Amino acid sequence: MSSIKKIVLAYSGGLDTSVAIKWLGDKYHAKIVTCTVDLGQGEDFKFIGEKALKVGAENHYTIDAKDEFAKNYIFPSIKANGLYEGKYPISTSLGRPLIAKKLVEVAHKEGADAVAHGCTGKGNDQLRIETSTKALDPNLTVLAPTRNWGMSRDQEVEYANKHGIPVSKAAKKYSIDQNLWGRSIESGPLENPWNAPEDDVWEWTMSPEEAPKKPTVMEITFKGGAPVAIDGKKLDPVSLIEHVNRVAGENGVGRIDHMEDRIVGIKSRETYECPAAVTILEAHKDLEKLILNRRELTFKRLVDEQWSFMVYAGLWDDPLREDLDAFIDKTSERMDGKVKVKLYKGSMIVVGRESPYSVYDFKTATYDSSSTFDQTLSNGFVPLWGLQTVVSRKVMSKMSKKK
Ligand code: ARG
Repeated sequence: MSSIKKIVLAYSGGLDTSVAIKWLGDKYHAKIVTCTVDLGQGEDFKFIGEKALKVGAENHYTIDAKDEFAKNYIFPSIKANGLYEGKYPISTSLGRPLIAKKLVEVAHKEGADAVAHGCTGKGNDQLRIETSTKALDPNLTVLAPTRNWGMSRDQEVEYANKHGIPVSKAAKKYSIDQNLWGRSIESGPLENPWNAPEDDVWEWTMSPEEAPKKPTVMEITFKGGAPVAIDGKKLDPVSLIEHVNRVAGENGVGRIDHMEDRIVGIKSRETYECPAAVTILEAHKDLEKLILNRRELTFKRLVDEQWSFMVYAGLWDDPLREDLDAFIDKTSERMDGKVKVKLYKGSMIVVGRESPYSVYDFKTATYDSSSTFDQTLSNGFVPLWGLQTVVSRKVMSKMSKKK
C-alpha cells in the first residue's frame, strides 16, 4: 500500500488530466484536489472547476496568477531577452515553474503528500514542473500518470466513457498551450516540417496579407528594463502585455515557425504566436544597444542565452538562474527610455529610441564639421588594430610557399 493519501493535480480541464483524476484516485486510493492556474490562457475557469468536481475531485482551486506571472516571470525574461534557440520567447516554459509553485502552495494548504501533472514523457514541461516542485519541497512525491499509464488516446476516451468523464466532441487537431506571453501550437499536420501552417493554426494574429494597409507606430516606455507605458499611457504589467498582444497581433506580428531541440533530444517543429513578446523583446534589445557599452553587450548575450536555456530546460529554481538575474538586474538599472516601433503587415521594426542614459554621443558620431572626434588618432589606432592579422598572414604565406 502506498502512503499517498492526498494528491494535488494540475488540472487543465482536458482529457488527460480529467482521466487522471479518476485514475490516480483509484490507483492510490487517494483524495484528489485539482488546481488550475490562470496565467492568462483565457479559458472558462468556472466550467473547468465544475468539471473537476464532477469527475471526482474532492476540492478544486482556481488561482489567478496573471499579475505574478507578468511581474516575476515575464518581466525578468524581457530583461534577459529571453529567447530559446534565437526564436522561441519561452512563453510556455516561463509558466511552468509558477504552476509548480502554486501546486506546492496548495499541497501545503491541503496537507497533501503528492503533486501530479499531465505532462507526457516526451516534452519539456515534465522537467519544469517536477524540478521546480522538488526544488521547492523535496518531501513531496511527484506523479506523472500520463507518462506511465500506457493508454493511447483511444483507450483514454474509452476509459473516460466507461467512468462517465465528459469528452469534448471536437477532435483535437493540435496540441495547444497558451498564456499571456504566447500561444504554442504543435502536432497534427505540423509534424511534417515541410507543411506550411494552415490558417487554423493562428488565433491571435491577423494574416499579414489581411492586416491593415496602414502601419501602426507604437511607443514603448521602459523603466529599469521593464515596459511600463505604451504611447505615453502607464499600464499595469498584465494590461500592457494584453494591449501589445492585441495591437501587434492585428498587424500580423508574432508568428513563429521553427525547428526546436527539446531537452529529451527530440527535434520538433513548433509554431508560436507571441505578438507582445516579439515586439517587446525586439524593442528591449534595441534599447540595450543604446544604453549598454560594447563589452557589456557582448557579455550579456552570453548571460541571456544561458538564462533562456535554463528556463527552457526546467531549471528556473536553480540558484544559477538567480545568480544570472543579479547581473541582469544590475545592467537593467540604467535601462530607462523609449522605443518607437512600426508594425506593418507582419513586420515589426524599431524606428526610434531615446534614453537619459544613452551612450550615443552625437558630437563624436556626426559626420558634420562640428564633430569632436579627432580622426588623426586613427593614424595610430588602425595599424595597431590590424597588427596581428597582418603578421599572421605574412607567416601563413611563408608556410604555403614551403609546402
Ligand atoms: N515546445 C515548447 C516548450 O517546450 C512548447 C510546449 C507546448 N506545450 C504543449 N503542451 N503544447 O516550451
